[in-house]
This record gives sequence, structure tokens and C-alpha cells, in this order.
Amino acid sequence: MSTPPRSETRKSASAESPREHRTTVRSLGARKRRGERFTMLTAYDYPFARIFDEVGIDVLLVGDSLGNVVQGLDNTLPVTLDEVVYHTRMVARAARRALVVGDMPFGSYQVCAEDALRSAVRLVKDGGAHAVKLEGGLGAAATIRRIVGAEIPVMGHVGLTPQAIHRMGGYRVQGRGEAERSRVLGDAHAVEDAGAFAVVLEGMPADLAGEITERLGIPTIGIGAGVRCDGQVLVMHDMLGLSDGFAPSFVKQYASLGPLVAQAARSFADDVANGKFPGPEHSYR
Ligand code: KIV
Repeated sequence: MSTPPRSETRKSASAESPREHRTTVRSLGARKRRGERFTMLTAYDYPFARIFDEVGIDVLLVGDSLGNVVQGLDNTLPVTLDEVVYHTRMVARAARRALVVGDMPFGSYQVCAEDALRSAVRLVKDGGAHAVKLEGGLGAAATIRRIVGAEIPVMGHVGLTPQAIHRMGGYRVQGRGEAERSRVLGDAHAVEDAGAFAVVLEGMPADLAGEITERLGIPTIGIGAGVRCDGQVLVMHDMLGLSDGFAPSFVKQYASLGPLVAQAARSFADDVANGKFPGPEHSYR
């Protein structure tokens, strides 16, 4: 955006509205106990985070899905900690009442628990996140414990874990069949026992997610995991119709912004070509 003269700049949001009651890791737990569902959306920049925050989305996740939807990558593996920190800073700046969760990208927590803690500290200290998320169940329990032990709240993520794409042999629904089911159930329990405040359940049969939600004391947040989870999350580009290509069947598209944006860009190009923009009302005297 070009820089408008000072007389045309808007007041910052903080000057317009007082800070409202913030969602916290404790309030999400209370929501579960009261049986109140909550929402999480991914966000990667200030303008969308501000809108989501203003309409009352409870949690903003700066997901490593930014690799797919912002960077145009095939998977999330190349996303770096610096990149997530950069996007988290923008989202945190916009969030007045939502809880901001920074996703720990591949390689930022797998090598050892000390490394993981350093990465989590960066997301909180440099990114402004209130909590971090990491993928994995039983195998990630010691890491979760180490980060929680340093007073940083951790959100777990079990079932279909995109960073395990090569182990899974693609993005496949997890937890089908008895052995798989008890593995995913065990992962969810391990995450809770390690001290996570919530857990994302991704890509699993709805009845398994329902059973995990009933058994766990911490809130579950579903994506492709049916209606019985305590909260639901969607990737914002999927929800808004901004993703290109394949949309998984669990996605509900609430708007179709892609064609709207294309139409706006086409109209701008036509107006410039025809000398209709800028008009006198857009020109300085
Ligand atoms: O990275 C991400 O956006 C996520 C959500 C899909 C839960 O992990």
C-alpha cells in the first residue's frame, strides 16, 4: 500500500477500542468443562488476524500451513522458525482478545528438548505468541514436558500430522483399525499427561475423535475429526476460498474470495487501460 499523507492515516486499533477480555489457556479449559464449543482459525498477517479477532474467533494459529497457503509449497517441511516468528509477530500485533499460538515448524523441536525449548522461547519472545503448538504424541511427550516446564503453554497435535508426511506415505486418515486406533488414543493421552493445555485432532474417524474428547480433560480441537471435538479449526485460505487446487472433503468453504479478488484486479486493469482510474476524486489538486 502507498503511504497516505498524515492527515489521512487512520487511528491505530488500540486508540479506537479498549482491550477486551483475552482468551487464555485456562479459559479454554473452562469452556470445555462448561460444554461450550470454541473456534480456532489460522492467520498469517495483520489484516486477517484483526478481522478474525474482532469477530470473536477464540484462537489464532500461525500454522506452518503457511508453507502451503502463503508460500505455495507442496508440504510444510521447508518452513523455518524465522518464517513462523515473522508471521506470528504480525498476528500477535492484531490480536486483542484471541489467544495466539505459534506453530513449531519441522526441525525446530525434533532434535532435542533443549533445542525445542529454544524454539518455543523465540516464538514467545520474538513472535509474541501466547502458546506454541507441536506435532506428535508419545514420541513428543518429553519435549512437551520440557517446554511446559519453562512456563510456555503447549498445544499438542495428533492423528494426521502433516510433518510426518513421509512416514505416513501421504496425507492419510489416521486411527482406522484397532491397532491404529489405540495408537492415536495413546498419543492423545501422552500429550495430556505431558502437560499440554489442548490438542489438535486431525484427520481421524469422527467416533475416535469423540472418544478422545470424552476421555481427555483438556480441550480437543478438530480438523477433519468430526463434530464431537470441543473446538474446530480451519485453515483460513480454505475457509475463504483462497486456496488453489484440491480442497479436502472436511473443509467447509464459507466464502469464495478467489473470484472476487480476480474480478477486482481485472476491473482495476481495465480502468487503467481505459483512463478511468485515477479519476478526479482520486487525484490531488
Ligand atoms: O499448520 C496448521 O495450519 C495446522 C492446522 C491445520 C491445525 O496445524
